[in-house]
Amino acid sequence: MANKIDGKKISQEIKDELKAEVEQLRENGVVPCLAVIQVGADPASTVYVGNKKKACEYIGIRSLAYEIPEETTESELLALIDELNNNDEVNGILVQLPLPSHIDENKVIQAISPLKDVDGFSEKSVGAMTIGTNGYLPCTPAGIIQLLKRSGIEISGKNCVVVGRSNIVGKPAALLMLRENATVTICHSRTKDLKKICSEADILIVAIGKPEFITADHVKEGAVVIDVGIHRREGKKLCGDVKYDEVEPKAGYITPVPGGVGPMTIAMLMENCIKAVRK
Ligand code: GUN
Repeated sequence: MANKIDGKKISQEIKDELKAEVEQLRENGVVPCLAVIQVGADPASTVYVGNKKKACEYIGIRSLAYEIPEETTESELLALIDELNNNDEVNGILVQLPLPSHIDENKVIQAISPLKDVDGFSEKSVGAMTIGTNGYLPCTPAGIIQLLKRSGIEISGKNCVVVGRSNIVGKPAALLMLRENATVTICHSRTKDLKKICSEADILIVAIGKPEFITADHVKEGAVVIDVGIHRREGKKLCGDVKYDEVEPKAGYITPVPGGVGPMTIAMLMENCIKAVRK
């Protein structure tokens, strides 16, 4: 039976550490402030944005909510970002993704001031992460590193396989694991013999967005399995990209869905918001 990596508990520990830091800042008259923009009313985005606002409240970060209609034009959204870039009271800006299809997501991401890019998605943040200089780290991959470290799992020298190559999770997760001295392989939809490559991983990070795609055949006995996926299916419970019931008995450590990676993303966002104050 695998050790369950409790993301809820670890994220709570981090949030409590950050809460103490914000209390100190507030005593010195500094109140961190995060602007959260949601375009449209995608139900999953509404849940994520709600959780981000709740975490801000818990930690003592002021949050400004911009819930704007689906029909908002790209130039209206860019104008809002420009206004927030120039507002000295706002430390961090987050635009919840995905955006409606008439808006160019990359243009919007790159419009956020790199000093306020608490998602870590801007070219400057990605460049800094890649060469290992100081900058905002993307929240989900940074959360994965924290989950591993705070669970006492050695990363250095381990064989890590990342399944998925998105700009938000797969690619940066691979870079951060490399920074921690893992030997890293990135797999994707064109990878040949995925099962063989995955089953050589000491640490398997799965972010492909396909419900229960990874089965016991993909997993080495005793491996650490990190599941980034989250899928709402009608009439069924939430599930990840990993077939949990089948993989759990074979793994050494595993993250559950929900309660694994998800809460860590929010905890790391809060950390970036506090970092933003110091910028
Ligand atoms: N949509 C899914 N994950 C994320 C995230 O980490 N940040 C933003 N802004 N949108 C997302």
